[in-house]
This record gives sequence, structure tokens and C-alpha cells, in this order.
Amino acid sequence: MKIVITYGTFDLFHVGHIRLLKRLSLLGDKLIVGLSSDEFNAGKGKKSFFSYKERAEILESCKYVTEVFAEHNWQQKRNDIIKYQADVFAMGDDWEGKFDDLNDICEVIYLPRTEDVSTTEIKSALSKVNAEELDRIESTLHNVIDIVKSLSK
Ligand code: CTP
Repeated sequence: MKIVITYGTFDLFHVGHIRLLKRLSLLGDKLIVGLSSDEFNAGKGKKSFFSYKERAEILESCKYVTEVFAEHNWQQKRNDIIKYQADVFAMGDDWEGKFDDLNDICEVIYLPRTEDVSTTEIKSALSKVNAEELDRIESTLHNVIDIVKSLSK
């Protein structure tokens, strides 16, 4: 039985996440995911769109994932690897080299990320939509004000 462990926030679940989880699951028999808790993210200055509970529900329903547990801090990885008897620790290559110190207790692997998709990009695209919407509302309001002014002359 070969066990693979990975970590992440997996907010606004997207195709980059799916492809990574699929490739990770093919590295072993079980894939365990340490999912960043809302408190841990807050400490990093990040706020996910979906709560921990929602992100866990989504991940647990993914056929490549065996089990999800909470990641509360940076230091717990070594204990988790021992607890879950993980043979492989793997992450996307945006983390290349960052966890090489775990090499003494398991194999450490970094897989190439899927290009051109990230939670940050999705959030930024959505916020642009909001900005465009606000511009439209503002210009409609100006038109209404002009009409009211012309009627009151
Ligand atoms: N990942 C990936 N390909 C992508 C996006 C993410 O392989 N296009 C991987 C990351 O390398 C990481 C895992 O998915 O191992 C979880 O990444 P996460 O940070 O939750 O997702 P991102 O989309 O990278 O989120 P953000 O933009 O907030 O960093």
C-alpha cells in the first residue's frame, strides 16, 4: 500500500486542482490531502471564498481523494507524514525545493502546475466583472440624474 500526501487550500476548485490530484493519485494507492484551515489561511493573510467545511466537502467528493484532514500550521507536515504513514509527499512545482527537508522520512516530489489557471486569477477576473458592473450602474445613475434635472427645469 503506497500512500501519497499533499497540501493546499483548493479554493474555487478548478481544472488545475483536478489534474494535480489525478496525477498524485496515480503515484500511489491512497491520496491524503491536508486542507488549509480558515484560521491558518487568515494567518497567511488569505481569505478563501469557500469555507474549510465547503472546500473539504468538494475535495472529499473528488474520486482521486481518499481522505481530507485540516492543516493548521506549517510545522505539522512531518508529524502528518508519520501519522498517515505516507510514502510520498507531493506538491505542484510552485513549491519546488520548499519541502526537501522531508526527504529523510519520505520521497518528496514536485509536479508541474497546469498553466494559465489559478484561484488568484479566477478571483481577479471575477472582481473585474464587478468593477464593470459598478461602472454600468454609475453611468445609469448619471443618466437618471440628468433626466431628473431636465424635468425639474
Ligand atoms: N496547482 C496546479 N496547477 C494549477 C493550480 C494549482 O497544479 N494551475 C496545484 C498547486 O501547485 C498546489 C495545489 O494545486 O500543489 C493546490 O494549490 P492552491 O494554492 O490551493 O491553488 P492555486 O490555484 O494555486 O491558488 P492560489 O492562486 O490562491 O495560489
